[in-house]
Amino acid sequence: MLNGNVLDGKALASKVRTEVKERVDAFISRHGRAPGLDVILVGENAASVVYTRNKEKAAKEVGIRGVLHTLAGATTEAELLKKIDQLNRDPNVDGILVQLPLPKHINEMRVLDAIDPGKDVDGFHPINAGLLSSGRPSLVPCTPMGCMRLLAEADVSLEGANAVVLGRSNIVGKPVAQLLLHKHATVTIAHSRTRDLPALCRTADVLVAAVGRAELVRRDWVKAGAVVIDVGINRVVREGKSVLVGDVLFEEVKEVARAITPVPGGVGPMTIAYLLSNTVDAAVARAAT
Ligand code: GUN
Repeated sequence: MLNGNVLDGKALASKVRTEVKERVDAFISRHGRAPGLDVILVGENAASVVYTRNKEKAAKEVGIRGVLHTLAGATTEAELLKKIDQLNRDPNVDGILVQLPLPKHINEMRVLDAIDPGKDVDGFHPINAGLLSSGRPSLVPCTPMGCMRLLAEADVSLEGANAVVLGRSNIVGKPVAQLLLHKHATVTIAHSRTRDLPALCRTADVLVAAVGRAELVRRDWVKAGAVVIDVGINRVVREGKSVLVGDVLFEEVKEVARAITPVPGGVGPMTIAYLLSNTVDAAVARAAT
């Protein structure tokens, strides 16, 4: 999955989806039903419409029963909570994902807390966050899972390595830091208030960038031979055209990194692959109880 020093997330995601499909087939033979993933979209945020359709389509492609529930932008919090309650009780539903961001009149925390932790395939419920930080089995957020698989595929030795995570979000920064720690890396979480960010990043053997700042990380921020995972997806205008770039200035950093993920085609495809994987994990765990 390494082309030169570029980590091909698209090819690796395809391999992960094949592994998931095999587990889906085994689940169906054993339990006589397909694992189910229900995705809820509230409103019409253009990016969210595309993301949720892709999730539904990817689920179906591996044999998961994928359903997209599209609710009007004016849906109340109480109505959304009722929908979640229905899905929590439905035995054929293994995974529930509420697409973020939610409209402003809905309290995101109350909604995420309402999802059955056993069906929380995003791994955003505080029960799952707590289990992860205690090093106990749980549903783990999809993007961090994808980052770790990319590192495994690049044969990166994490034990004792200096890992710097740029960004402290609940979705990526904090969980990926936990996973790196479980693999015995020495982990530093950096953020917008960190002093001398370039100097800190230069200490990294593994650098995970998840801050949402277009091309923040430059060549002179990166130690020669470091492995760089770019989680950023930033839309910028270049020569009159809208393009996607990461948090890392790819063309520069590719010259010094031992391995680097591109944007697009790096972490992005891995996130959806691990959503499918989490759905099968949830289905298997639920079937065992
Ligand atoms: N919006 C952007 N990324 C994500 C994600 O991973 N999960 C959910 N639920 N919403 C998102």
